[in-house]
Amino acid sequence: MLTASLDRSTARTVVALANRAPSVHNSQPWRWRIGPSSLHLFADPARALPATDPEGRDLRISCGAALHHLRVALLATGLGARVHRLPDRHSPGHLAAVETVPARPAADDLALARAIETRRSDRRVFSTWPVPTGFLADLAAAAAAEGARLVVLDDERRRLTVARLVREAAVEQALTPGLSRETAVWTGRSRSARDGVPAANVPTDPAGTVPVRRFSAGEQAQNALGRGESDGTVLALLTTAADDPVDQLRAGEALSAVLLTATRAGLATDPVSQPLEVPATRAELRSTCLGDDGEPQLLVRLGWAPLAAEPVPASARLPVDETIDAPDAPWA
Ligand SMILES: Cc1cc2nc3c(=O)[nH]c(=O)nc-3n(C[C@H](O)[C@H](O)[C@H](O)COP(=O)(O)O)c2cc1C
Repeated sequence: MLTASLDRSTARTVVALANRAPSVHNSQPWRWRIGPSSLHLFADPARALPATDPEGRDLRISCGAALHHLRVALLATGLGARVHRLPDRHSPGHLAAVETVPARPAADDLALARAIETRRSDRRVFSTWPVPTGFLADLAAAAAAEGARLVVLDDERRRLTVARLVREAAVEQALTPGLSRETAVWTGRSRSARDGVPAANVPTDPAGTVPVRRFSAGEQAQNALGRGESDGTVLALLTTAADDPVDQLRAGEALSAVLLTATRAGLATDPVSQPLEVPATRAELRSTCLGDDGEPQLLVRLGWAPLAAEPVPASARLPVDETIDAPDAPWA
């Protein structure tokens, strides 16, 4: 029999899967409240990154990714989701109210849920193998289904512009008070840390045609490419029509849909947000890469990890009960 009700153990399981979502610096800036047939997503200001992400854009995109992971996990358990984004205008931190409704998952839905456990951010260079255009069309369709657009930056001019803007944003951020302390606090972590970016997930030697963010420490072996070989990284820009908090939440949902679809196809992925965090470089991305048609939200590197590459370790998450308000309270 199809049901819309959510028992306590299913609720904990779907929240644990939602918490596997990517988030800026693995800050996991969200909290959950759970009722008998609803789940509520809140931003957690205590986990914000004011120097890196002064406008809270990355925070809302991260929460959107967790919201999409939650929807995917719910569907795998036979529950659909009716989502109300920013349901209370007097409470901007209440990002979503999710009502559960009966649903029957298809095989594709189950495969997407399985990708939650295997997705990783891979910051190494990718192999020279091209990504088939059919795969890119699937990723664009996944973004479109979430109300966003995935624009593949396939010409050299736009790729070089992005590379320059990543470098410029890094210089601008290096001059931002508090930034280097925030990077030191949240990155270069040990494998046992429950949040933050572990050094084991950052290459010792950042390389590749698209620059990646510098973290405070890196211990991961970089992939070797032949002399003079350029890597086969596809660079894509996730965009939305407008840029209010709901658009940023939706951008996060689209990010999750793109990353899980790519993971399912065996592709390696890595979000890149630095040039979106600095207003001047974000404006230049909008004009040069989009011709001012749409709002840039996040860059994504996509490609094939070389066959000989070591698997990327899973970064840790907070214990699930610490992310749920009053997990042992009676159902509201
Ligand atoms: C909004 C957002 C921005 C991010 N920005 C970057 C970035 O600039 N560079 C990077 O290497 N990873 C970036 N990431 C990836 C996170 O660092 C990563 O999701 C987190 O450390 C957890 O690791 P995992 O994705 O392997 O689970 C970003 C993720 C999100 C959701």
